[in-house]
Amino acid sequence: MKDNVILTGFMGTGKTSLGKLLATKLGRPFVDIDKKIEAEQKLSIPKIFEQFGEEHFRALEKSAVKELSERRGLVIATGGGTIKDEENLRLLKSSGVLICLTTEPEEIFSRTARRGERPVLDGGGDERLATIKKLLAERKKFYDRADYQVDTTEWSPLQIIDDICRYLRQFRS
Ligand code: S3P
Repeated sequence: MKDNVILTGFMGTGKTSLGKLLATKLGRPFVDIDKKIEAEQKLSIPKIFEQFGEEHFRALEKSAVKELSERRGLVIATGGGTIKDEENLRLLKSSGVLICLTTEPEEIFSRTARRGERPVLDGGGDERLATIKKLLAERKKFYDRADYQVDTTEWSPLQIIDDICRYLRQFRS
């Protein structure tokens, strides 16, 4: 399988940690879009939001998607909002197999509890769980266009990786 394997899904669904494990298992390079942007800008995502605004971040994200979707053989983890841009979704889907990780809102709430890391959620104040549910509902139509979905709420990382590898076997050449 020469195509990319792309992990997408909401914040706190495990894209980065599972992406690393999957890349090791498949013997492929791993690229995390947020980490790539942070390394290139020499700034954390929260600082990019704070200093330049979300629109600027989305432009950086878009150019990273363009660049990565021209490459092959990678495991890529997107940010939680990457595929709410129609062009990003189209480019990623055409560059490989798009897998969406899903997680129950209450579990996302506890996994993303640390403040200062996710500017999209930090504005929500005490209504953070409501913000999570609202964003999940808004983004569902994009996440649903992935080729495959895996619920990470209950399963261990190894179970999830095994499930993804089982799904990917059909694309092996
Ligand atoms: C975002 C998710 C974040 C990061 C940015 C915006 C979003 O990535 O890209 O803070 O809009 O859902 P993670 O899903 O890796 O936290």
